[in-house]
Amino acid sequence: MGFDNLHSSHSWLGLTTIILFGLQLIIGFLVFFIPRFPNYIRARGLPWHAFMGLLVYLSALASAESGIVELVALLQGRNLMGNFGPEGKVANCLGLSLLVLGALVVLSAVLPSHSSTSVGPKQTDNALST
Ligand code: HEM
Ligand code: HEM
Repeated sequence: MGFDNLHSSHSWLGLTTIILFGLQLIIGFLVFFIPRFPNYIRARGLPWHAFMGLLVYLSALASAESGIVELVALLQGRNLMGNFGPEGKVANCLGLSLLVLGALVVLSAVLPSHSSTSVGPKQTDNALST
């Protein structure tokens, strides 16, 4: 589109997201998938894994939100989009929907589960800590 790489705060956020995602994936795989990894390290690392997982998710949301802003600014700068046109409303609704989605996902991750069945996420009992 005719501009330098990594000039915007969106591109920095996006790159950070990709790097954090990659690290989370590799470290998660090493610690939780490889059978010979000691259980006490898994147990101690799990809260950090959960925290970093949520951070990666929030970082992706921030990237997507700033990406929307970036695109709107780009289109407006080239007079391809008005200030109060339908495209702007779509962009704003998309931004708000992402916020609502983020809130629901984080809520479902941090709320304790009240399920009495064995299906679904567990509450505090963790097989790794025993
Ligand atoms: C998790 C979501 C996203 C990630 C990780 C991401 C990542 C990136 C990265 C790393 C760049 C820099 C490319 C470069 O400098 O060569 C970029 C550029 C760009 N992205 Fe995204 N992006 C995301 C979502 C979005 C969304 C939702 C939009 C628009 C609807 C968008 C629009 C753009 C635009 C217009 C550019 C070029 C301008 C710039 O470099 O800032 N992105 N993105
Ligand atoms: C980018 C990739 C990843 C992200 C974003 C991520 C994120 C998360 C999050 C947010 C949690 C907490 C879930 C909760 O609160 O119930 C979690 C738990 C967990 N993750 Fe990951 N994770 C990733 C990769 C991996 C990988 C590759 C493995 C191993 C193969 C792994 C194994 C686990 C395990 C065993 C748990 C505990 C599940 C439980 O408590 O029931 N993760 N992960």
